[in-house]
Amino acid sequence: MRIRKAIFPVAGLGTRFLPATKASPKEMLAVVDKPIIQYAVEEAVEAGITELIFVTSITKRAIEDHFDTNYELEDKLKKAGQERFLEVVRNIIPKHVSCAYIRQPEALGLGHAVLCAKPLIGGEPFAVLLADDLIYSPGVGCLSSMVKIVEDIQNSIVAIERVSINDVKKYGIIASEPMGKQLHRLQGIVEKPAQEDAPSNLAVVGRYVLMPEIFSLLESTLAGANGEIQLTDAIAAMMAKQQVLAYEFEGKRYDCGSKLGYLTATVEYGLRHPELSEEFDAYLKERYR
Ligand code: UTP
Repeated sequence: MRIRKAIFPVAGLGTRFLPATKASPKEMLAVVDKPIIQYAVEEAVEAGITELIFVTSITKRAIEDHFDTNYELEDKLKKAGQERFLEVVRNIIPKHVSCAYIRQPEALGLGHAVLCAKPLIGGEPFAVLLADDLIYSPGVGCLSSMVKIVEDIQNSIVAIERVSINDVKKYGIIASEPMGKQLHRLQGIVEKPAQEDAPSNLAVVGRYVLMPEIFSLLESTLAGANGEIQLTDAIAAMMAKQQVLAYEFEGKRYDCGSKLGYLTATVEYGLRHPELSEEFDAYLKERYR
């Protein structure tokens, strides 16, 4: 079983980032010098994905442009001898990787966005990456690790992390039993539970590898939490038919859909950036000593 395709649902409204997201995609906000969608694409490509499927909406055209060729810019950079930047803009997507775009006509929820990509997936397992969950995992990427597990075990898998009990209401929360190092078997999953109803503090974050049976389950999933068609509810239905796993990834996740998470990512990626780290570190120490 090889995982070749990944869905990037990018059709959300980005309400928490208004007014920045009124006409521009949240996924094009840059963390230092790269839009957050590019970090997710790089993670997918590292995991061996060769077909990128973006589920977009009316305000998201810049994403399509970002992954396309810009001949005028390339020509100007070439004439100006700016070889380094030329390489940067030419190598955003490797040559063997293709992009496809499909619209979600209305923001009816993450589950609905994934279902919109069904015609482009066919009957094979696929990954889903939510770009606003930016995952820093030096060494092996989070999706790479998940893909390896699926290639062995051939079940759907979701990435999880422990969150503060005060935050369970923001996430899909799982009940599970341990299955070995970093791996759990799902026994239940509930979207945005109240603190007193949460089965644990293990929260699903934005990386999934799913078996194609999820599509028929999504087709019969009714609107759930927040009035949206929830991927979580279809995963709950899937558990009745086949085993679903959860993977406690190594590394750090930044919730770039929230202002605080985005600012934290900007500071920490700035401090890791080869061109900036020294000067930025010195600035922070001077400013906040
Ligand atoms: P979020 O819950 O972060 O929603 O969606 P959002 O609309 O992007 O942001 P807020 O909450 O209004 O600030 C999680 C992921 O699912 C996608 C989003 O683009 C994001 O990657 N999504 C959500 C869709 O593609 N379509 C939807 O209808 C809803």
